[in-house]
Amino acid sequence: MKNKNTVLVIAVFAILAAVLLAGCAPSAQEDEQITITMWFGRQEFVPHDQFARFHAENPNIRVEWDVIPLEQAHTDFLRNHAAGSAPDVVQIFQTPLTGHYNWDYSSADGRIRKLYRLGKELNWNAEMDVDWNRDFPRDQIPMDETFNPFNGWEPFESLSDDEKLRFSWHNLAWMLAQFMHGEQGALLVASQLASCAPTYDAKLYAASQTFDEARHVEVFTRYLQEKIGILYPVNDNLKALLDKILSDPRWDLKFIGMQIIIEGLALAAFNTLKMTAHDPLLKDIIHLVIRDEARHVTFGVNYLQDYVETLSEEELEDRAHFAYEACVVMRERLIATEVFEEFGWDVDQARKVTLDSQIMAQFRNLLFTRIMPNLRRIGLLTESVRPRFEKLGILQFENLGDDGEIDWAELSKPLYEQAS
Ligand SMILES: [Fe+2]
Ligand SMILES: [Fe+2]
Repeated sequence: MKNKNTVLVIAVFAILAAVLLAGCAPSAQEDEQITITMWFGRQEFVPHDQFARFHAENPNIRVEWDVIPLEQAHTDFLRNHAAGSAPDVVQIFQTPLTGHYNWDYSSADGRIRKLYRLGKELNWNAEMDVDWNRDFPRDQIPMDETFNPFNGWEPFESLSDDEKLRFSWHNLAWMLAQFMHGEQGALLVASQLASCAPTYDAKLYAASQTFDEARHVEVFTRYLQEKIGILYPVNDNLKALLDKILSDPRWDLKFIGMQIIIEGLALAAFNTLKMTAHDPLLKDIIHLVIRDEARHVTFGVNYLQDYVETLSEEELEDRAHFAYEACVVMRERLIATEVFEEFGWDVDQARKVTLDSQIMAQFRNLLFTRIMPNLRRIGLLTESVRPRFEKLGILQFENLGDDGEIDWAELSKPLYEQAS
């Protein structure tokens, strides 16, 4: 049930984020009785107070939960899934993470140590370094409409001007919410990398990245809550990729999935948003986040390049296919199905309009201009995956500039040179 699932995740998101934005988030139809089933890994993780408040405010939605010990969650989920009784939301993941001590404190890799140093030097604080006293008028379109694929499409054109304005704000809110959720994923993965990256330099760097990602989650959350007031749940495709990256035991796969694919795409998306967003405050925020992300991607490429050379052919193919699958999933993440549902559109039709739109196809491809050269650089564009990438229409970007050659001048620029 498509509608049910949307409502479920949105409702649960609202509960877990402790932000009950009644009237702001999309809501269930009043007369529809819905039960949400959830699993938690520990009794103390169950937000009883928030559930009680949610039930009082949403009498037609019932949340039922179970506590499943972390150790058996995976087996239980597979059994229940096969029996058709899997829960709607599982807020648990388990990972057989292999940690490494490293007792050799001499710096083996000057590039990684230098990136770590830059991470410390270029720190910023969203509470002090961003002027939040600016409010962009809600009666104005917040983004350049050039990329709206629905111009000329009847269900969109039949909306009133007010509804079109509301659509534009929802679209922006959806996009920023995916950034926010992606940043939380990055926070969790970076913290894993501090433990499982094998070298001392990489551990220090991963620790600094963890702090960067925490500030990114903070800044997007604050903007969405204070300036827009519309919260969307994590997109299924993004969540599936985060699940895979977080629960895979191989550290290099975490690097490939997060530093190369998700962050490479985010970096291109941030740059586009910085150009198309109209709110100067949002532009400043994106500018600051881009500075950090450029460093993260550079770290990923430089650290992986040497390691990938040591892989066997079978291991290499495994990583190359993972990178391809991740790119396919991330293309799907770019389709705002949850917004289509909010406006009562036929999701399949709206999805088709998005996919067929030339401007959106160009936009989607543009987002891979950072990923493809980096995959080539680290050796993951193997002969077996090249035809697949070609079919996606993104192999053509492989020879653009990559992040292997570090542009130290660019990465070292003063933080606020361009921010207002
Ligand atoms: Fe980030
Ligand atoms: Fe990042």
